[in-house]
Amino acid sequence: MKNNNEYCSPATGSHRACRVNMTVHQFAESLGNAIDAKDPYTCSHSEDVAVLSHKIGMQMGLEADRCDLLHIAGHLHDIGKIGVPDAILQKDGRLTDEEFKVIQRHPQVGADIVSPVTSLTGINIITRSILHHHERFDGKGYPYGLAGEDIPLEARIIAVADTLSAMASNRPYRKALPFTDIVAEINRCSGTQFDPRVVGCFNEICSSVAGYFRCTAENFSTSLRFPSAVCCRNVRVAV
Ligand SMILES: [Fe+2]
Ligand SMILES: [Fe+2]
Repeated sequence: MKNNNEYCSPATGSHRACRVNMTVHQFAESLGNAIDAKDPYTCSHSEDVAVLSHKIGMQMGLEADRCDLLHIAGHLHDIGKIGVPDAILQKDGRLTDEEFKVIQRHPQVGADIVSPVTSLTGINIITRSILHHHERFDGKGYPYGLAGEDIPLEARIIAVADTLSAMASNRPYRKALPFTDIVAEINRCSGTQFDPRVVGCFNEICSSVAGYFRCTAENFSTSLRFPSAVCCRNVRVAV
């Protein structure tokens, strides 16, 4: 096994092209962990979304630097939930319309939170990925009801990774779904909730995604709360 810290080391020969620095990545992970810590049932969710989005982006043939930004956006996609009261976030029962409206604000709140960082670095795709990660391919999502390719590709990828991670996690009202059921549900929602092209690439890397979930499950069983040091090591991040 490779050194757990490898993913944080300057990537040999890639400095010129890589636009994401190690500090931004570490802050993104920290903020993602902070949001996940609000809910014991989602304690690796931001990590999952970062890793899975990166995997799908690579399979789609996106440039490595673009996949790195996608990874960062995955860590930060739900940062806006910091503005949602715990009583709503952790509610077991059905949300009222008012409560759902509060939840629906989190993409805009998140985009506002990270905008100073992206202004600094010029990587606005991170802001746009956070803002649009709950849009649906059929235009029935939020906050803007964008449809099809009007939704930034990164946000369409995060939407699939987000649902994957949610279905693979235990919730107060249900157990994690078997992986075959998760694959079936993602494919059932292809063309409505999800971009069929993204779903197609996910299908091509199913076994790798299943392996990732096995890896995180093993880490949790040995009491490693945040598995980023193991599962994030392949992300190329440079100073
Ligand atoms: Fe979200
Ligand atoms: Fe990471």
